[in-house]
Amino acid sequence: MRIDIITLFPELLISPFEASIVKRAIEGKKVDVVFHNLRDYTVSKHKQVDDAPFGGGAGMVMMIEPIDKCITKLKAERSYDEIIYMTPDGEQLNQKISNECSLMQNIILLCGHYKGVDQRVRDHFITREISIGDFVLSGGELAAAVFCDSIIRLIPGVLGNESSALSDSYQDNLLAPPIYTRPANYNGWEVPEILTSGNTPAVDLWREEQAFERTQKLRPDLLED
Ligand code: ADE
Repeated sequence: MRIDIITLFPELLISPFEASIVKRAIEGKKVDVVFHNLRDYTVSKHKQVDDAPFGGGAGMVMMIEPIDKCITKLKAERSYDEIIYMTPDGEQLNQKISNECSLMQNIILLCGHYKGVDQRVRDHFITREISIGDFVLSGGELAAAVFCDSIIRLIPGVLGNESSALSDSYQDNLLAPPIYTRPANYNGWEVPEILTSGNTPAVDLWREEQAFERTQKLRPDLLED
């Protein structure tokens, strides 16, 4: 998989790709992540990337031309499954979308800033719009990093034990059950006895029940459909 990220602030995107599972996936060539600085695609002397909105109002709007130049160049080099705009008014990210996108070959992520991008970018280049939640970030970079992390760990072969992604929260519309590790007794706080019983079917059943109870208590909406 290849992910091209178009951004005004590539420095905001560095560390999420330099540690842990995501770093390993990049080193193992399961995914290639390439940053494109929009300022490199500006045409004006002052490297202008934004301008005042037509019709007036507060804030600046990201101009179409540098974005067009960057996306057009990328599209000439390969074909893309999706050109995604990270925006708080997009479709809300969930595990189903991450699963779907983890199977794609090439995607572009466009990170917005200021008031956002000229609507014509959304109308003519963007194929999908994704929000990571009902709150507004200063720009799309952190949202893009969150989205990338959620899909990269799902790329086949990235997690050592494939089943560990399958047992994540949300993978089956259930929250994950509680987990414990040694010591079995810490200051008198004991691990549920069943987990040290060695009875695997009983442990599996207990985990299912716990997952269901947790979901019912904390996220009953997940059980509705
Ligand atoms: N850009 C700013 N806020 C965002 C959000 N919540 N999701 C995706 N992109 C964003």
